[in-house]
Amino acid sequence: MSSAPPTPPWSVHRLPRADGRVFLVTGANAGIGYFVAEQLSATGATVVLGSRNPAKAEAAATSIRAHVAGARVRAVRLDLADLPSLRAVAESLEVERLDAVVHNAGVALDDPPREETAGGHELMFGTNHLGHFALTGWLMPLLAAAPAARVVTTGSFAAKSERLDLDDLQSLQDYRPKRAYGRSKLAQMYFGVELDRRLRAAGSSVASVVAHPGGALDSLTPSRPPVHVRTTGARLSAAPAGLLLQGKHAGAWPAVRAVLDPSVRGGQLWGPRAFGLRGEPRREPVWDHLADGSVAARLWDASRDLTGVDPG
Ligand SMILES: NC(=O)c1ccc[n+]([C@@H]2O[C@H](COP(=O)([O-])OP(=O)(O)OC[C@H]3O[C@@H](n4cnc5c(N)ncnc54)[C@H](OP(=O)(O)O)[C@@H]3O)[C@@H](O)[C@H]2O)c1
Repeated sequence: MSSAPPTPPWSVHRLPRADGRVFLVTGANAGIGYFVAEQLSATGATVVLGSRNPAKAEAAATSIRAHVAGARVRAVRLDLADLPSLRAVAESLEVERLDAVVHNAGVALDDPPREETAGGHELMFGTNHLGHFALTGWLMPLLAAAPAARVVTTGSFAAKSERLDLDDLQSLQDYRPKRAYGRSKLAQMYFGVELDRRLRAAGSSVASVVAHPGGALDSLTPSRPPVHVRTTGARLSAAPAGLLLQGKHAGAWPAVRAVLDPSVRGGQLWGPRAFGLRGEPRREPVWDHLADGSVAARLWDASRDLTGVDPG
């Protein structure tokens, strides 16, 4: 009696081939997004760098080509803080189908004052959540045209202890930057889980997965000049942090697995193995508060009203 060969364990250093597939990564000109794009490029796929800054995007593409022989990489302009501009992104991709989008770009403010996008939304909620919400809607026809596309949304451990204030999503009544950031990431995670619920209900071939990078520091990240340069001083002073946290190359691993691993399913949450902070990517139970469909549905309705787009 013959049996199927066992599936080899996932290795971040031996990714499956993805020749012929097309992946878009938002915020791919720096940080974790750069490494998501570099690692996905090594699979033979075409990787499109979504960036609001053409010069930075070109530098990232040049660096990827220098590290990945034969990389198929190019860039499109994409500013998540400018909602009306996102409508044009699908067309600018110049593809007939999209196999995955990684919603990686993010903005985090440490100090007041409260800032807004040009459209009048609180900057972090508007960019991190509303921008990706609307972008998903505009990309859905291309995603649906692929055989089994994935939307991978980047969450954060900072969202674990947060709860949304559905009556003050834009932090108009009480603005605290760190809390507003954590809530914007929580909103993204609710979106990722709820999107999958809606896609399943509609019988869609598209799956939505949430991934988070753990704690990823530039000072623990290998150099990719001119995208990122790590000095010897930075490396030495970051050594103790390396016991608990990781570099952005490793922060990319959960999203890369969420894109490529055939065993990943929609609605799942993926993060680093060790305390959710560092290490190899593994599946995590969906946090209790994230599973609350009524909060997710109210957030969805509010996001649809604020963006004028319904990605479901
Ligand atoms: N690092 C961590 O420990 C950590 C932990 C949890 C979650 N995360 C999440 O992981 C993601 C990446 O984090 P990171 O540490 O790599 O951040 P990063 O180094 O600051 O990079 C952020 C990226 O997002 C882009 N971006 C910001 N605003 C944008 C906009 N309006 N339109 C398009 N792109 C925009 C930036 O572009 P510019 O270069 O033009 O600014 C940059 O490419 C974020 O979603 C973050 O919330 C990070």
